[in-house]
Amino acid sequence: MAAKIIPPVLRPRWGVPGSLFYDMTSRIYDTPDKTVTQNSDALQDVANMYERTLKTDSLGRPFRFESLVASTNDMARDWALVGGPHGALFFADEQAQGRGRRGRVWQTQPGVNLTFSLILRSEFLSVDIGLITLAAGFAMFKTLRTLFPTLNIQIKWPNDILIGPRKCSGILLESSIGADRSDKFAILGIGLNVNQITFSGDLERTATSLLLETGHRHDRIGLLVAFLDELETRILQISGDKSSFLKEYEGHLAGMGSAVRLNSFDGGPAVTGKILGITEDGCMRLQTLSGVQVVYAGDVTFEDGSDDLEL
Ligand code: BTN
Repeated sequence: MAAKIIPPVLRPRWGVPGSLFYDMTSRIYDTPDKTVTQNSDALQDVANMYERTLKTDSLGRPFRFESLVASTNDMARDWALVGGPHGALFFADEQAQGRGRRGRVWQTQPGVNLTFSLILRSEFLSVDIGLITLAAGFAMFKTLRTLFPTLNIQIKWPNDILIGPRKCSGILLESSIGADRSDKFAILGIGLNVNQITFSGDLERTATSLLLETGHRHDRIGLLVAFLDELETRILQISGDKSSFLKEYEGHLAGMGSAVRLNSFDGGPAVTGKILGITEDGCMRLQTLSGVQVVYAGDVTFEDGSDDLEL
């Protein structure tokens, strides 16, 4: 297969060996459908397995695999800026500057977890981007619940995944989709702790992995492929019938019907109330002492003190 020339802007920022550039969609690129540049054997195997087992129609294709980047969200954004298509996936074995919500750091050990980002283009999205992030959280929940039915897995609004009181997965949506929704994109970055054994600092108390919860290692690519399949299904679902999705989501929402505190992102006052449910655009409805309030963003703390995750 002839090699595709990769524009310099798409070359890894970190300049490390270990990158696989695969484009599987000849509709989008009038070039060979697969290109491999310098890579490690292990990463090559991972990418081959991904290519062989991916079941989606469009989500997760084309894809790029790297050994080490600063943040997959940055790499996906750079790709989107030079025409990376809707659904494209950027995967890294290691992130040197992984980001979490609220400016936090997302720390993972190299080669044992899932860290990846998807390009979502507004012209392919018929629903509010807020609901897409909920769909992504729910897809991760559903994937894990199906594969690990005995674990106590829950969603914490908007899209953290908890096993018991500890967090195993988080989602960071970075969006340039403006009001006019023209030619804009969002980057959906997802982290899942799969085979990590130790966590440092506060994470020792608040984070967990599938290995720690089950006592054995898990196939990262199997999980990734299952998640993408579920996410594609959920995006289709919310494009048609939002209410059935919201009902399912609320059915598994940690703290539904209970008292919670929501710390606002912008330093404004915290809001305390009982979770009533989720609005059609993904906001939380809270019954407070002064009436029903709709909250767009924030960190949930359970008022019974059982959990004050600040990951
Ligand atoms: C959170 O819960 O705070 C969100 C965590 C999101 C982490 C993922 S890992 C892949 C992608 N790249 C990043 O830098 N962050 C997201």
